[in-house]
Amino acid sequence: MLQINNLEVVYSDIILVLRGISLTVSDRSIIAFLGSNGAGKTTTLKAISGLLEYEDGEIKKGAIEFDGRPIHKMDPQEIVRLGITQVPEGRRVFAELTVEENIRVGSHTRRDGKAVVARDYERIFGYFPILRERRRLQAGFCSGGEQQMLAIARALMARPSLMMLDEPSLGLAPLLVGEIFGMIRRINEEEQVSILLVEQNAVMALAVSSTATSWRAGRSSSTAPARSSSETRTCGSSTSA
Ligand SMILES: Nc1ncnc2c1ncn2[C@@H]1O[C@H](COP(=O)(O)OP(=O)(O)O)[C@@H](O)[C@H]1O
Ligand SMILES: [Mg+2]
Repeated sequence: MLQINNLEVVYSDIILVLRGISLTVSDRSIIAFLGSNGAGKTTTLKAISGLLEYEDGEIKKGAIEFDGRPIHKMDPQEIVRLGITQVPEGRRVFAELTVEENIRVGSHTRRDGKAVVARDYERIFGYFPILRERRRLQAGFCSGGEQQMLAIARALMARPSLMMLDEPSLGLAPLLVGEIFGMIRRINEEEQVSILLVEQNAVMALAVSSTATSWRAGRSSSTAPARSSSETRTCGSSTSA
């Protein structure tokens, strides 16, 4: 489904952050990226979603293909329309908008009509009943866990086939992290969405994913099956760091 080959990314023309990253995400799988702070996880997600240009970042080498089509020269909206959405690091909900408005923002790239969007909106509350209760509240007044759920709900409204989550457990209590990872797994199964999960929380990430890749300093250093599963897949070529 997603294939990254030998990706190199620089910021401001000089800072080399990714050096030859390769990986594969298969249909309906959950892949975990583990890596310490600064390893290049967020940079990789931004390269996939087309957001690098807003940070003066550039893909210098390599290719990203989605369903066989090169996407590394496409703009972010086009990439969302192809079915890739990102749940950003730090949630980035619109604090002044209500929960409901935040969720609706997620559907702005869709062209399949109001009725379908309205049905999805209702269905998504099935995963996050607390958001239904909070729907008229300004997102800025929601708890960290609720904001994380909101960021996921917003991403789902784009009807992705691949959802990328950047450190969803950051700053949340362990119990809540377990709950959110349970939701991610349910979404993977019921919505048939592939998940690319970036995490520093290795224990949790390994519990939900089928394959894990760990990174150091812009290279993938090891790849291994995570939870025992018939769906286990390997991620690209790994390089010794
Ligand atoms: N906009 C930017 N300009 C220059 N350097 C950046 C920028 N964003 C990230 N970096 C650098 O790239 C490296 C990888 O960052 P990042 O992808 O955010 O890592 P991670 O998400 O794994 O913590 C870090 O050394 C960071 O300082
Ligand atoms: Mg990051």
